[in-house]
Amino acid sequence: MLAWEHGYKIGQWEMDAEHLILFSLLNQLDININADLADECVHDVLTALDAYIDYHFAHEEALMKSWGYPGLDEHAAKHHLFMVEVSRLREAVKNDDVLRGALKVRGFVLEWLLNHIMETDVDYAQFIAQKAKKTRA
Ligand SMILES: [Fe+2]
Ligand SMILES: [Fe+2]
Repeated sequence: MLAWEHGYKIGQWEMDAEHLILFSLLNQLDININADLADECVHDVLTALDAYIDYHFAHEEALMKSWGYPGLDEHAAKHHLFMVEVSRLREAVKNDDVLRGALKVRGFVLEWLLNHIMETDVDYAQFIAQKAKKTRA
């Protein structure tokens, strides 16, 4: 299980809330991997995780666009590469042992997400915060 920590926040409350939900879905995946339930349940959680990742990326990219963030294209390309890798791993879950496959997805998504939030998302959050301060001044 993974606890949400204050240090994961980037200061954009909607995005922080969405990141927290992504962490919760990863915990749900953890629960389902460890529970003695049908493989179908793991697939359900993976589908929800996929859908929410899609939703979060689209929301985040729209936010960056609305603030004129100059690093949008580069950031969106990182999202895209990640989605390609997740799809590849999802295919492996179908063809491989479901629980082993799901563990790989969980490990990859968790590590990527933490690095991405702390190294990439934090950059647009700082940009927006500075721009918002200038607008108010
Ligand atoms: Fe992002
Ligand atoms: Fe994000």
